[in-house]
Amino acid sequence: ASLKEFNTFGLDVKAKQYIAINSEDELKHILKRFYAEELFVLSGGSNILLTKNVEATVLHIQIKGIKVIKEQKNHVLVEAKAGENWHAFVLWCIEKNYGGLENLSLIPGYVGTSPIQNIGAYGVELKDSFVSCKAIHKQTLEEVTFTKEDCKFGYRDSIFKNAYKNQFIITSVCFELTTKKHSLKTSYGAIQAELKQHKIGNPSIKDISEAIIQIRQSKLPDPRKIGNSGSFFKNPVVDAAFFKKVYTTHPEMPFYELPDGTYKIPAGWLIESCGFKGMTKGDAGVHKKQALVLVNYGEATGEDIQNLAKAIQYKVQQVFNIQLEAEVNII
Ligand code: EPU
Repeated sequence: ASLKEFNTFGLDVKAKQYIAINSEDELKHILKRFYAEELFVLSGGSNILLTKNVEATVLHIQIKGIKVIKEQKNHVLVEAKAGENWHAFVLWCIEKNYGGLENLSLIPGYVGTSPIQNIGAYGVELKDSFVSCKAIHKQTLEEVTFTKEDCKFGYRDSIFKNAYKNQFIITSVCFELTTKKHSLKTSYGAIQAELKQHKIGNPSIKDISEAIIQIRQSKLPDPRKIGNSGSFFKNPVVDAAFFKKVYTTHPEMPFYELPDGTYKIPAGWLIESCGFKGMTKGDAGVHKKQALVLVNYGEATGEDIQNLAKAIQYKVQQVFNIQLEAEVNII
């Protein structure tokens, strides 16, 4: 089976076998029949780079369903199953006037993998609305509920990328969303500019969602047209002493100071400064409008993209002495 349709880089790699999973029971049934090592769990395919054929049985998590599980005075608890498309879920929330996820509009992928890397954009992270998630252990079939604390969320990070890596399959996620007073996050300059352009003074969650969609569409390539996985690298975090050294030689460098006194430097800027923005090698390339996004213009292989990523890491290391870490899972 080809996985081309199921990864947003559009890479034509083969899997030994492909099984769509439509319920928790189907999942448990399959887990009983296979060793964990024989399985490869696929979700929205929007954060992976497949560099070779998958010598395993692919389980494509398609478990669907969204429901309100509890209504409180100013909040609702909403549970979404793992196979729901993330953006469709965000739009469902906005339609119901449930606030909290609007800044995360148009992020590719499925609900079930959103906690693994604690998806984030425009001043909001998944963890801000996350309550818990349910997961099934691949070997023991035990069903476990993880609270927010259990998940140990960090910047593009959680326990599912560390101690529990590849051990659980998340089946649903529960969010706490606002119903009356929404707490809008509009501090990003790009959001303010977008709202101003449309003369919106008192934005609704829908206005914010629409602004974010505009911003994302203006810089990020649509994976249905140009293969990509969003940001390929994480933004590096460096200590104050190191930051000052780089800043002295590059005062034009954008940065964010973090509460703990370290500094986050935009990887997109580092990559652009090294001359890679818009560059192509065969069908692998660096996006013209956002240097942090690597793209497949058609027939690139996962190896082509990986080689480009390595060339970028090498150059950034040489010029800035900073090691870029991949955000995308390379398989
Ligand atoms: N920049 C450049 N050149 C570039 C790209 C960016 O100089 O080619 C500079 C910009 O001018 C800006 C700074 O870098 O000063 C930050 O750029 P941007 O606002 O586009 O955000 P980012 O840091 O590149 C992060 C997330 C995105 C998220 C945006 C908005 C990571 C790895 N990426 O990108 O997330 O949408 O902020 O909040 O943290 C993703 O994870 O796939 C993703 C798209």
